[in-house]
Amino acid sequence: MSFRIISAAEAASYVKHGDNIGLSGFTPAGTPKAVTPEIAKIAEAEHEAGRPFQIGIFTGASTGDATDGILSRIKAIRYRAPYTTNPDFRKAVNNGEIAYNDIHLSQMAQEVRYGFMGKVNVAILEACEVTPDGKVYLTAAGGISPTIARLADKVIIELNSAHSKNCMGLHDVYEPLDPPYRREIPIFKPSDRIGVPYVQVDPKKIIGIVEVNKPDEARSFTAPDPITDKIGQNVADFLAADMKRGIIPSTFLPLQSGVGNIANAVLGALGRNTTIPPFEMYTEVLQDSVVNLIRAGRVKFGSTCSLTVTNDCLQGIYDDIDFFRDKLMMRPSEISNSPEVVRRLGIISINTAIEADIYGNVNSTHITGTKMMNGIGGSGDFTRNAYISIFTCPSVAKEGKISAIVPMVSHHDHTEHDVNIIVTEQGVADLRGKSPAERAQTIIENCAHPDYKNLLWDYLKMASKGQTAHNIAAALGMHDALLKKGDMRLTDWAEYSK
Ligand code: COA
Repeated sequence: MSFRIISAAEAASYVKHGDNIGLSGFTPAGTPKAVTPEIAKIAEAEHEAGRPFQIGIFTGASTGDATDGILSRIKAIRYRAPYTTNPDFRKAVNNGEIAYNDIHLSQMAQEVRYGFMGKVNVAILEACEVTPDGKVYLTAAGGISPTIARLADKVIIELNSAHSKNCMGLHDVYEPLDPPYRREIPIFKPSDRIGVPYVQVDPKKIIGIVEVNKPDEARSFTAPDPITDKIGQNVADFLAADMKRGIIPSTFLPLQSGVGNIANAVLGALGRNTTIPPFEMYTEVLQDSVVNLIRAGRVKFGSTCSLTVTNDCLQGIYDDIDFFRDKLMMRPSEISNSPEVVRRLGIISINTAIEADIYGNVNSTHITGTKMMNGIGGSGDFTRNAYISIFTCPSVAKEGKISAIVPMVSHHDHTEHDVNIIVTEQGVADLRGKSPAERAQTIIENCAHPDYKNLLWDYLKMASKGQTAHNIAAALGMHDALLKKGDMRLTDWAEYSK
């Protein structure tokens, strides 16, 4: 079957008000970029004509401005799941304009299959190649593509020549059956290949191919700073010590690590620490730092959902595909983040917290309890099931006005039962095998910023005893001081003991 070449505008015309669209991609990597701006133009015209036009978006993780940015600015998104990082989308969510469902990334594809979010009307997949029998070769991410391609009524392919055809073969596409027929996911080491290198689409559903030449909307890097470097060093030293005393096997264990500065600093420090042997990654996003460590022989294999790298780095992989072909693999998010596989492989997870409390509960998503930052992403998939779960963050934010260590988290994403280690630039709190009272001592002593230590010790003194000591009236007193006085250092516990 040969497919019609259509314009992005024609492709967009198949999306109607009230539809749900499914998108390939995971982070801006692999996300379609040509059709969604055309959907935005239709929405704008409809709004100007006084007619409603809003859609639902199902995707792997964050997208780029060409989707979440453009569509949220013109109020064309009714519903969206899961994770996103776009500032305009964030603003719209926190203004109550978008129904945002922030779920664990491993669950996205299956919740779409289970019918929890409604029908997928149109799927848009970015590809580097498509064959006449409907084999779609994805670009820089696995995401939820196999599921949306199978469930959607109509499929549009963005054939993007900015991605080399050398990307063919980097994917391992596997979609599990649903209960009661679900079987084990047969991955026993990060490099196990269990599926096929393409997404099979029913050719009759492909309404056309949009030819595109647009690079991924890759994020640029911020230079490392002394704080992130110190956090990275603390994580590397901690892991090396745990290996030395036999808690981590001498072969080391696969790592999961998030995006951003801290993740780069952690990986840089691990790469430099040669007491740690070359290791593998089983992760959802892979940044430039990992690609560099693969080149240097410090990372042996990277299994990921997406290549969230700069465009130069991506081109470097495509150019050097003979080197990378047996060292990199992309998987759908329900496999890269599968709790079953994470637990089996014994992943060491490293994620970033917004704040942690003195007992080890972690908030990854909300600023002062109410405002959405990005979302939980895959942090819960990995943390709950990790061999060792680590959270990192600077001990203070906003020039010291905010302490990342607080008496009680203002929103709860990862519970004390799941969090093993907290690392700030101040030090490392090892919570394993400790009671809540012992954890509080360790976290305040090792992780809190000196400006906040006494405030936190004083809180503990005024807390009512119990398995988990708290003063319920004062538990969010530091957040209250931030909201009322603009600085957590101005917390006055006396106000809560009246
Ligand atoms: N209160 C208020 N603001 C805070 C804060 C706190 N306790 N802690 C951090 N912030 C602010 C920072 O000041 C910064 O603000 P800015 O954008 O105005 O500069 C912003 O939050 C981001 O913090 P930063 O220190 O730059 O870290 P980051 O970019 O690594 O983001 C998370 C941190 C937690 C928001 C991010 O890692 C995330 O979304 N995590 C959840 C998803 C996840 O873990 N996925 C798994 C791996 S990809």
